[in-house]
Amino acid sequence: MRRPFIAGNWKMNLNRAEAVALAEALKEKAAGVDYADIAVCPPFVYLDAVAGVLKGSNVKVGAQDCYFAGNGAFTGEVSVEMLKDIGCEYVILGHSERRHILGESNELTNKKLLAALAGGLKVILCVGEMLSEREANQTDDINAEQFFGSLAGVTAEQMKDVTIAYEPVWAIGTGKTASPEQAEEVHAFLRKLLEYRFGKETADTVRIQYGGSMKPANAKDLLGQADIDGGLIGGAALQADSFMGIIECGK
Ligand code: 13P
Repeated sequence: MRRPFIAGNWKMNLNRAEAVALAEALKEKAAGVDYADIAVCPPFVYLDAVAGVLKGSNVKVGAQDCYFAGNGAFTGEVSVEMLKDIGCEYVILGHSERRHILGESNELTNKKLLAALAGGLKVILCVGEMLSEREANQTDDINAEQFFGSLAGVTAEQMKDVTIAYEPVWAIGTGKTASPEQAEEVHAFLRKLLEYRFGKETADTVRIQYGGSMKPANAKDLLGQADIDGGLIGGAALQADSFMGIIECGK
């Protein structure tokens, strides 16, 4: 049994006071949770404040992106070193909003991932197909391409610091969740890719989160699938009670 890992991606939401209040509420409500790993990923500007609130608690802090180069002349970017400096433990990479809105490639995602791992951050690597790709029967091809491309040059040993998040783009923020069977089919496929690329031991231990309109009402069925080991939550992570409702489904 893999230990569930539930992470909140706050995306570009909340103001400072709301971010701090949400962190404070989660710190208190999640204090007794011993059956799952929990993380929240606030916008960069609130990371320091949120990390301060959550220091020493069982809610870990992640960033939503990072740059691959060390500190230097990269206007607007944030380095792995800076994230480590403020107590950040995780970073989300390859999110579909970065791939499709910001145009980030597998190659760029891979550079960021290698830099993050080398710098001591744990990575949540997102993969997922768009609706048009699913309808064209390209689901496996797209997920495989993102998986192999983003993980180029990564060793099995490094995979202990990587979580995969399967996020079908058509289910993100749409209220259209993948059915547990649809999600499990892709998770099982990703598990096969893990085995092919890194061996069985790694495939058995790496956690694969589902992301895309996960809510307290559908989390139990999704998390009950053999290869779904957690969730990467957007909208429902913006309120302590709904996020906790999902965490409790990981029991
Ligand atoms: P929603 O839960 O809002 O669909 O977002 C999912 C997601 O993109 C998490 O990274």
